[in-house]
Formats: sequence, C-alpha cells, structure tokens
Amino acid sequence: DGFSASTIFEKDQGITYKDFLILPGYIDFAPQDVNLETRITRNVKIKLPLISSPMDTVTESRMAITMALLGGIGIIHNNLSIEDQAAQVERVKRYENGFITEPIVLSPKNTIADIDNISERYGFSGVPITEDGTLRSKLVGIVANRDVDFERDRTILLSKVMTTDLITAPKGISLVQANEILRKSKKGKLPIVDKEGRLVALMSRSDLVKNREYPFATKDEQKRLRVGAAVSTHPHDRERIDMLVARGVDLLVVDSAQGYSKFQIDLLKELKKKYPNVDVMAGNVVTREQGDALIRAGADGLRIGMGPGSICITQDTMACGRSQATAVYYTAQMAAKHKIPVIADGGIANIGDIAKALAVGGSAVMVGSLLAGSKEAPGEYFYENGVRLKKFRGMASIEAMEGGGGAKRYNVEDQKIKVAQGVSGAVVDKGSLFEFIPYLMQGVRHALQDMGYRDIPSLHKALHASKLRFEPRSLAAQAQGGVHGLYSYKKPIIG
Ligand code: XMP
Repeated sequence: DGFSASTIFEKDQGITYKDFLILPGYIDFAPQDVNLETRITRNVKIKLPLISSPMDTVTESRMAITMALLGGIGIIHNNLSIEDQAAQVERVKRYENGFITEPIVLSPKNTIADIDNISERYGFSGVPITEDGTLRSKLVGIVANRDVDFERDRTILLSKVMTTDLITAPKGISLVQANEILRKSKKGKLPIVDKEGRLVALMSRSDLVKNREYPFATKDEQKRLRVGAAVSTHPHDRERIDMLVARGVDLLVVDSAQGYSKFQIDLLKELKKKYPNVDVMAGNVVTREQGDALIRAGADGLRIGMGPGSICITQDTMACGRSQATAVYYTAQMAAKHKIPVIADGGIANIGDIAKALAVGGSAVMVGSLLAGSKEAPGEYFYENGVRLKKFRGMASIEAMEGGGGAKRYNVEDQKIKVAQGVSGAVVDKGSLFEFIPYLMQGVRHALQDMGYRDIPSLHKALHASKLRFEPRSLAAQAQGGVHGLYSYKKPIIG
C-alpha cells in the first residue's frame, strides 16, 4: 500500500508535515526498545534527536545545560557580545565534569565577594584556595557556600573562612577510584593534588549525583556536557569563533537564512583548516545544490529550512524558501550519499512532526517555539488575560535585529533599511523541560514503533529503499486527523 517517498515528494508542489502520513508497519517490540540515538554532524552523536534553536528567546546556558543533560544539545545564540556568548558556552562546559582540569581557583587573600562573583557567573561554589591563587600551586584550603552563607561582611578574607582540614586524592588516580573517595568523604569537592601538594584537578559531588540522574547526557570525552554555538560569516565574527573554540565549544553552527554563499563557503574552508577537530553545522539550505556546495566546502552537518519557522515571514518577504518536508527530503537524499546528517530546522509543532521529519530523512529536529515558554528558556514570565506567557521572537524580527545577532543571520547588518523576516510574540508557559522533553521523546518512540522501526538509522534505510510507505493527506483528511466535533473552550497549546 501507499507510495514511496519519491512518488510523494518529487512532484511539482512542495509539501509539509501536515500534508502526508506514514503507513504503519509491523510491531514486534515495545516503545522502550526504540533507540533514538542519532548523529547530528560527522562526529557529534546525541541520545535524543532534539536540538534547541540559537534564538535569544530559546537557547542560553540554562537551556543548553538542560538539553545536554536530557540527551539532546543546545545551540547558544549569538545576539550577544563575544565575551557573553563565550561565557555562556563556558558555563555549560563547566557544569558537569569528571575531573575538572581547569577549576577556578582563588588565593587566601581574596574576599567572600570574589566567591559571590564566581557563583553568579558560573553557578557554582566550592572553590579551592591555593597559596598564590593559581592552579598548580600549593593547595591550602577550600571555601564552600556553607562557609560564607551567613557572613554579613563580604570583604572578609578567604583565609579566615576557608576549610583547611582537607581530604584529597593523588594525581593519576582513576575516575572510578576518585568517585569512590568522594562518595565516602561526604564532602562537596575532592581536590586532586600532586606529590608536592599542588592542585592539579578537582572533582565535584554534585557531578556524581547528576551522572546518576542523567545517564543519557550528551558529553564529550572529558565527561563535560556538550554545547553548540551560533556564529555568522561576518569577518568580525572570526574573533568570536576563536574565543568559542578556546572555551571548548563542541559544535559551531554557521547561522544564516540562506547559506549558499561565497561567505559561508570561504568560512567553512577556513574553519576546517584552522580547527579540524571542531565540527561545523552549515546552513540553512533547502536545495540539493546548496547543500552539496556546503558539504564540499567541509560542512559536517546541514541545517535545513527556509521560512517554515513559527515566527518566520521569510517566504512572504523574500519570495524564496521551500515547504519544509520537501526541503528535508531532497537535501537528505543528497547528503546521505556523503554520509552527512541533515537537521530539520523549524516548523515542528508536535510529536507527529518530529517523527515525520525523521521519516523523511532528518537525523534530528531543531526547534524554537516548541521549547520557548519553558522554565529553562531565557526571559521572565508575564500574564496576559490571566494566561502565563513568555516572550518568543524571530531572530530577524526588528526587535531582535536591533540587538545585532539577528541582523548578521539575515545579512542586513550593514543595511540602513532593515526588512524584517520574522515577528515577535509570546508563547504559553510549558512548565519544565525536565518533564516536557521526556514526554515528547516517549511520543516519538511510540511513533517509530508504529512505523515498525527500532532506531533512526533503520528508519532511514527503509526510506532510501522505498520500504517506508507514505500517503498524501487531503485537507478533509487533515481535519479528520485532528480533534473535531468537540465543544472547545480552550485553544490547544501545541499543534
Ligand atoms: P520554530 O518553528 O521551531 O522555528 O519556532 C525555529 C527556527 O526558525 C528560524 N528562525 C527564523 N526564520 N525569520 C525566519 O524566517 C526569523 O526571524 C527567524 N528566527 C528564527 C531558525 O532557523 C530557527 O531555528
């Protein structure tokens, strides 16, 4: 029954997620047997196929930390100064560690106010104190939150409040042994010292707890959470890139609405030479020609979408773009030949859309509005007509462009007259992503189970072999597939 993807998509009309359905397959496994692990660039793998958009109302460090803990990844937006964006990346990289090899250190001559600055900037306390305040000098104490909590006078020297009765572990100890000492010591931190008593690394008890609670977390080889960051092709962003790489960013995302440009191709070539170990996701593209050019220039992954986003008006203002399912289908066909993943970016409104994006060849979805309005998204809640809302805006909205970052993405930075390609608005409170994302992902597992596939690679194999069957959906069928015939006093929040 049904049709192959090529019959559905290779036609004279672009279509999107709502325009088709996937025919069910054979089930001989449970939803929890579905493995959603996926590769989003040549070298970056994540456990859940979900990426948060680099938008200033979606991804800053708190969102990126949450995404990585849960098994996805967040891309820090670049509507920030270079220093601020790099600091956001650093916050994520320092959040969870095996051995913290570059811990922040202070000297006995620093004050409690310096501890306050550190907790504010990085979100942690528990600072080792060395003789001269530098790493790899003699460890003399440690200051934890509880040593300074109730101290009114923040000018007191740390030498007065630090704990000097220390449990340490020797340099060269294995992670497993160190974990064991930390567990037994009942202390918050375990400093690792060399024979001369000089501090070489630090371990944190809260990391042990986090490791236990988030076994799916997306981590690098050093057990730090992974994070991506958006950058532009503008020449003055070369400094930004250098700084992000220096702070340990795992993935650079070249953020452009139309990625098929000399500027992006030159940048990709340059980056692959300068930083062969940092993956670069290029884009955005919607055609095979665009994508092929970026892959040849060195892209490790492609971001697909021009205008499908919930706040996008690109298709109306620029006349260019492509219906999203068609865009993902074509680019995925091309990229599969190069073994490069494509990411379906924008226009995802519900679980079904995520599953469909994967079924037409996407290796993961990138989402903005779906995660905006959550507790972990930037910004404060406000009320309108009794509804709890958070702001959400397109990066090419006039509002965001005035901040700078949006203007770079849409190549209008140097233009006097700015034409908006996005709008600003608000979205309803979604609560915490620690509940919402597991719910979404369990839904996707059910969807793959209904299709009859246990993982994303086998779904893609079936797609390319025309074993996965599709059927177009008329407008009447779409109406029938949604909720109908009920008295509705409330609009649905998603979908
Ligand atoms: P969703 O639908 O998940 O889409 O909210 C998020 C994606 O939309 C893109 N984006 C924009 N596109 N004008 C556009 O045409 C804009 O102002 C804009 N801001 C973000 C971006 O690709 C994001 O990941």
